[in-house]
Amino acid sequence: MSFEGGDASGKSTQARRLVQALAARGTPVVLAREPGSTPLGERLRELLLAGETPPSPRAEALLFAAARAELVERLVRPALAAGVWVVLDRFADSSVAYQGAGLGLGADVVARLNDWATGGLLPDLTFLLDLPVDAADGRTSAADAIAGRGAAFRERVRQAYLELAAREPERVVVLDARKSPDTIEEEIWRRVGRWLEGGRSG
Ligand code: TYD
Repeated sequence: MSFEGGDASGKSTQARRLVQALAARGTPVVLAREPGSTPLGERLRELLLAGETPPSPRAEALLFAAARAELVERLVRPALAAGVWVVLDRFADSSVAYQGAGLGLGADVVARLNDWATGGLLPDLTFLLDLPVDAADGRTSAADAIAGRGAAFRERVRQAYLELAAREPERVVVLDARKSPDTIEEEIWRRVGRWLEGGRSG
């Protein structure tokens, strides 16, 4: 399962809440964030988000992909193999939206890069917390170099996410991030329940 959305959309809160709810019902589960959650990934995160030495666009896409490859190899695949659920605060779709559309590298090329970096792994379900760009402006957010790229960038990111959801409606569930956290949590829990009833596990 993964959570996606713009900055200040509330996705990290919902990822945590889902992990707590799964753990409470006895499901083995691990939470990871991207970029990060491995020693190399956390180092790359510092480099990417500090904004001291902004990489060129292709280099930026490759660095996010490197963090993702490391996470999949070291954490995600071993967890899934052991029957542990993995909840990801951002995953491959972030790069399609931010580097593919935001930076203009192209959604298709970034999707191919993701595919290579992850060995073709995609979440079973992705929750997209959708927030209009002007609504996000009023919210406090942990500012990082990428979050500060301006309204036009963030609008491209948002549209790319919505296009992904339209293309893969079975996987990507769009949620209105302006609703209350409790309401959103209930919607997510219902959707996870339906997915489980569908006979899927893991
Ligand atoms: P995150 O820690 O989720 O911050 P926030 O909760 O403020 O959104 O993500 C860090 C930043 O990295 C965020 O601005 C989005 C960006 N990012 C990309 O540009 N590409 C990627 O592939 C990923 C995973 C994140």
